[in-house]
Amino acid sequence: LLKMNINTLIGDLKKLGFEKAKADYIISRDYIELILEEYSYQLPSGREIVTPENVYDELKQPADPKALKDRPPVVTIMGHVDHGKTTILDYLRKSSIVSQEFGGITQHIGAFQVVTPVSKRKITFLDTPGHEAFLKMRERGANITDIVVLVVSAEDSIKPQTIEAIKHVKKSGNELIVAITKVDKLRSAKEKETVINKIMNDLLQHEIHAEDLGGNVPVIPISAKSGENMDLLEENIILVSDGMELQAEVGKNTLVEGWILESEVQKTLGNVSTVLIKKGIIRKGAVLLSGNTYCKVRNLIGENGASVAMATPAQAVEVTGWKQLPMAGDQVIQVDSEAIAKKYVGKRLHLIELEKEASTVDKMNEARALVH
Ligand code: GTP
Ligand code: MG
Repeated sequence: LLKMNINTLIGDLKKLGFEKAKADYIISRDYIELILEEYSYQLPSGREIVTPENVYDELKQPADPKALKDRPPVVTIMGHVDHGKTTILDYLRKSSIVSQEFGGITQHIGAFQVVTPVSKRKITFLDTPGHEAFLKMRERGANITDIVVLVVSAEDSIKPQTIEAIKHVKKSGNELIVAITKVDKLRSAKEKETVINKIMNDLLQHEIHAEDLGGNVPVIPISAKSGENMDLLEENIILVSDGMELQAEVGKNTLVEGWILESEVQKTLGNVSTVLIKKGIIRKGAVLLSGNTYCKVRNLIGENGASVAMATPAQAVEVTGWKQLPMAGDQVIQVDSEAIAKKYVGKRLHLIELEKEASTVDKMNEARALVH
C-alpha cells in the first residue's frame, strides 16, 4: 500500500516504538491507521481496511433504482413505563388476528403486520424496542424504524422516559406521531380538552410542535382499552409514511439484506432467527450470511406460526436452517451459493483471529515498553 522499502518501514516502525518489528510482524488495525496517517497515506476512494465488521460489504449489490417498489412503514412504540405501549400492541395485534382469521394461534414473532381498516395498507410494528438488538443496531447507526409512535398517558403527561424517547427520535431522524393514551379515563369532554391542551403545551417545551398548535406532529387521543381512535392512529401512520416515500428493491436479481431481530434454539426447529427484511425477497433455499454463520433457508415461518413461501421488505419472518445461532442485531446478507458463504465466514473468522493475535503482540510490546 505504501509502496516503500520494507527495511525503511521496519526502521520507522522501530522509531515509533514497535521494537520487535520485522517483515511478518502483525499490527492491529488501530495502529495501521496511525501509521498510514504518519505517512499521510490516503486509501484509494471506496477502499477501506478489511475488518471482521466490514468483510461482507463487498458482497453487497450496487443500488438498482429500477427495482424499487413501495414498502410498508416500520413502526416502534416508545414511551414512559406503564403509559400503555404493550396495550396498544395487544389491541392492534388482536384486531389484526381477527381480520386475518387466525384467531387462537399465538403470534410469537418480535414484529407483526396489520392491515389498516380504511385504506387497507400494511404497517409493520416492532414489538420490543429497547431490547438488545435495537441497542446494537442503534450503536451502528442503523435505523430500522421509520416512524416512532410516542405514547403519553392522559393521566401523567410527560415523564423522564418520554423525554428520553423524544431525544432518541430527534437523533434518529425518525418521523414522530404522538398518541395520548387512556383518554377513556377522562370523564367529560371538557376534561379531555384541558388534558390534551396541557400535554400539547408540555410537548412544546421539548420542541415537539403539535399539528393543532400549528406544527407538524400529529397528536392523537386514543384508548387502547375501548379502541377509540385506534383506526385514526393507524391511518395517520399511513399518512406520515406516504410523505416519506418508503421504497425497497425487490427486483428478480435483488439479493436480500436485513437484520436479525432475535434468535433462539427451538426444540423441534433447531436454530431459528427472526429476520426483518430491508431489501429483496426471501424464499426457501436462499443462502444467507450473518456474523460468523450462514444458512440455506430450510423453512420460513410467518407471524402466525404458519409456513410462508416468501417474505418481502419491511416484513419480519422466522428463518430456520442456520448452521449456528446468529446474533440479534447482526446484519443479514444473501449470497449466491453455500460455497461463497463458507468462504466469507472463513475470511471473517481469519480476520478475527488476526485481530486477536495483533492485539496480543501490541500488548506485549506495550508491556515491554513499560519495563524499559
Ligand atoms: P411497560 O412495558 O411497563 O413500560 O408499560 P407499558 O407502557 O407497556 O404499559 P401497559 O400497556 O402495560 O399499560 C399499563 C397499564 O395501563 C395497564 O394496567 C393497562 O391495562 C393500562 N392501560 C393501558 N392503556 C390503557 C387505556 O387506553 N385505557 C385504560 N383505562 N387503561 C390503559
Ligand atoms: Mg409493556
